[in-house]
Amino acid sequence: MLDWSEMISDRPRTAHRASVANEVSAPESTGFGTIDRAGARVSVDDKAMINCRADVNQLLPLKYRWAWMKYLAGCNNHWMPTEVSMQADIALWKSKEGLTEDERRAIKRNLGFFAASESLVANNIVLAIYRHLTNPECRQYLLRQAFEEAVHTHTFQYIVDSLGLDEGELFNMYREVPSITDKAAWALKHTRHLDDPEFKTGTPEADQAFLRDLVAFYVIFEGMWFYTGFAQILSLGRRNKMVGIAEQYQYILRDESIHLNFGIDVINQIKNENPYLWNRTFQDEVRGMLKEAAELEAAYGRDTMPRGFLGLNSALCEEYMYFIANRRCAQIGLEAVFGKAENPFPWMSEAMDLKKEKNFFESRVIEYQNGGTLAWD
Ligand SMILES: [Fe+2]
Ligand SMILES: [Fe+2]
Repeated sequence: MLDWSEMISDRPRTAHRASVANEVSAPESTGFGTIDRAGARVSVDDKAMINCRADVNQLLPLKYRWAWMKYLAGCNNHWMPTEVSMQADIALWKSKEGLTEDERRAIKRNLGFFAASESLVANNIVLAIYRHLTNPECRQYLLRQAFEEAVHTHTFQYIVDSLGLDEGELFNMYREVPSITDKAAWALKHTRHLDDPEFKTGTPEADQAFLRDLVAFYVIFEGMWFYTGFAQILSLGRRNKMVGIAEQYQYILRDESIHLNFGIDVINQIKNENPYLWNRTFQDEVRGMLKEAAELEAAYGRDTMPRGFLGLNSALCEEYMYFIANRRCAQIGLEAVFGKAENPFPWMSEAMDLKKEKNFFESRVIEYQNGGTLAWD
């Protein structure tokens, strides 16, 4: 297992970079500018997370080993949705007795939420985050993450196809089901301005806007909202229902836990390098974002599970969200936003640990580890 405690151990020395807003003059974030034929080679000290003027085309020397390690971990976790059998799910979905109406409603809304959300997250990485994160090893991870989001979107195409679901209904839920639309709209308002070609980091206001986007997508979208969704499907899987989808969600969860940890490391590293950005006012604002997002999720839980079903209901999901929100606050160095909240789904941590001989549902022996172990001679 990787030791995430090393994640912010590479404390930066900032002497060679422009960390104060008025010292920054149009950093070369694309790497497409005129080649500096007489320039010095990049040293580790030249590298920085944002507003960096060191050549972004040079991966080495590595400065942020945690980003590289996550890239390797992502590659080792490779999987494809089509490797998972859907036979049992198809039989259950088509049978009259297998699922209650409440379970069907929760499954469909869950799939609808994820189907569009994976694309929203992917587009945010590629169109908003990548350009402004001026570090090659972090970009290397973002490229891997972007591919994983494509695999996740593929998963929902495969599920729709396998179960014969109405694709228009599912992929439009983020526009047509208010409790899903509210979440997507909330996240989009934090990314929209980064998509503006005129937007540049380099002022405290712009750098904070970039941090807001990182919080909205990594900490909240992937780190909070996805987790209720995982709990819903994995709870069904534990009762032997929709085990194919549950297995796919287990792999998605494994990917997403690295995405989340990467986002947290990025935020904490930017804070370390630019402590003036993380002032009291901004901390209060971010805490407000997490609180608001948890309430949106509670509303989504009430909408998807109006009566609840065995082992799961909206009150438990609400408590879980409060627990997760407090945990995310601690991970980015903020005071908790809710009073003491317990984890009502302790089995979720077991679901996240795939380092076993059998997977969570014990349907087959499986552990995706490939690529890095292949010999080419
Ligand atoms: Fe994803
Ligand atoms: Fe993700």
